[in-house]
Amino acid sequence: MLSAKSLFQEILDHDESFRLFCSIAAGGESQGGWENGRIAALVPESERALAPRIARHGADEDKHGRIFNALLNKRGLGPVVVPPEADYTMLLEQRGIGLSHDRLRADRPLTVRDVITYLAHSRVTEQRAAEQMRMLCRHFSDHPELGRAVRMISADEDNHLAYSHEELLRFAAAGHGRYVERTLRACAFAEIRVHRDVGLAVMARMGRLLGWSRVRSAVLAAGIHAVYGYERLFGWRRMVTLRMPERRDALGGPAPAAATEVA
Ligand SMILES: [Fe+2]
Ligand SMILES: [Fe+2]
Repeated sequence: MLSAKSLFQEILDHDESFRLFCSIAAGGESQGGWENGRIAALVPESERALAPRIARHGADEDKHGRIFNALLNKRGLGPVVVPPEADYTMLLEQRGIGLSHDRLRADRPLTVRDVITYLAHSRVTEQRAAEQMRMLCRHFSDHPELGRAVRMISADEDNHLAYSHEELLRFAAAGHGRYVERTLRACAFAEIRVHRDVGLAVMARMGRLLGWSRVRSAVLAAGIHAVYGYERLFGWRRMVTLRMPERRDALGGPAPAAATEVA
């Protein structure tokens, strides 16, 4: 039977597909870590209070990158190069979503709108990350190799999502509502396309590694296109709404001690 659980189980059970999965995940997480680190360093004076939260956000993503690399190490595997067509973070940047790496490498302080752009990008991509991690948690939270890692990362992604809701609501209340809304929409529509493209690219590679039949590959590709169609028509709304989270200031305070890390 073809379910999300059986699909992931198959990917986890084979070294080469596990290697590709962890390498893609580790690459995206560390890229996010670097971006947040730069954003924290470039926060404008008026938004100084946000800097420790952005730094914490970056530290969490770096930690996730280390966790995926540690999962590879534990199996005696090294990372593989992430194929460009499966590089979610890079593809989003190429579509002009979020802050460009050139902008982040420059030593000029960001503007308030840049900070909103960062938060909108986070609101949308953390929604995706939180949903994917919840799905993994639902099926693998007791898995001997992955359980701890998926539980920890899932809790962190929920925090990142809560934080981006809260901060965007604050900017909207401070008179930036139109910009917040516009940026969120642009980000959501770009993300759902990139998510589809990356999904197709990853599944094509997995299919080759795992020797899937043409029928199986076609069914999976059709599923990815169907999700895209749904998200373009209806699903995008869940990525652009803002709701005050139950847990306020989810990224306040220092990051939990490294001793609790799974890596
Ligand atoms: Fe993450
Ligand atoms: Fe995150």
